[in-house]
Amino acid sequence: MIVVRRIGPDDWQEWRVLRLAGLAEAPYAFRSTLEEWSGTGDIEEHWRTWLDDIPLTLVADLDGRPVGMVCVTGPDSCEIELAAIWVAPGARGKGVGGALVEAALDWGRDQGAERAVLEVLEENLAAIDLYRRMGFMDRGPTRASDDPYQTRAMTRDLAPD
Ligand SMILES: CC(C)(COP(=O)(O)OP(=O)(O)OC[C@H]1O[C@@H](n2cnc3c(N)ncnc32)[C@H](O)[C@@H]1OP(=O)(O)O)[C@@H](O)C(=O)NCCC(=O)NCCS
Repeated sequence: MIVVRRIGPDDWQEWRVLRLAGLAEAPYAFRSTLEEWSGTGDIEEHWRTWLDDIPLTLVADLDGRPVGMVCVTGPDSCEIELAAIWVAPGARGKGVGGALVEAALDWGRDQGAERAVLEVLEENLAAIDLYRRMGFMDRGPTRASDDPYQTRAMTRDLAPD
């Protein structure tokens, strides 16, 4: 069974474990790096401040075990932005990513946002497939053509279905 729940600063230890695992396994999915969150960056205050600053952080449990996460910012100009979506490799292909995206979109609607946006690496086909399935449209490249990290913007209208 998949359960998606909201977490906050007091859940920083659980968040730390998930996020360090994600940063190590799929660094391309995050704007920050494992280095920033290791060593001197790996302190309670740093984790708490992050969770305090991000409007919505969701964790997904699969059969009672935390396996995935997503961060959502906004609403800003009627938009929410989804970032740092990650599901542990052993839990992929079971609907966890879809459940996280769905919960983020529900929150955006509750906040009165009109659109959800995200950025994805061009070669990240698993993520692009998931976003398409969740109703996101490809809005094209977001960086200069000589940038080594080619990303695409995807957006989804949040009007009620
Ligand atoms: C991208 C990512 C989040 C997808 O998570 P996921 O939990 O595997 O996503 P889902 O299970 O909801 O969907 C993935 C596939 O499983 C299939 N699926 C969904 N529910 C399923 C179920 N109950 N049983 C079997 N397969 C299922 C879906 O059809 C989908 O296949 P498709 O893409 O061919 O349509 C995950 O691969 C990941 O963490 N990747 C590394 C980090 C990353 O790239 N993040 C995105 C950065 S933009």
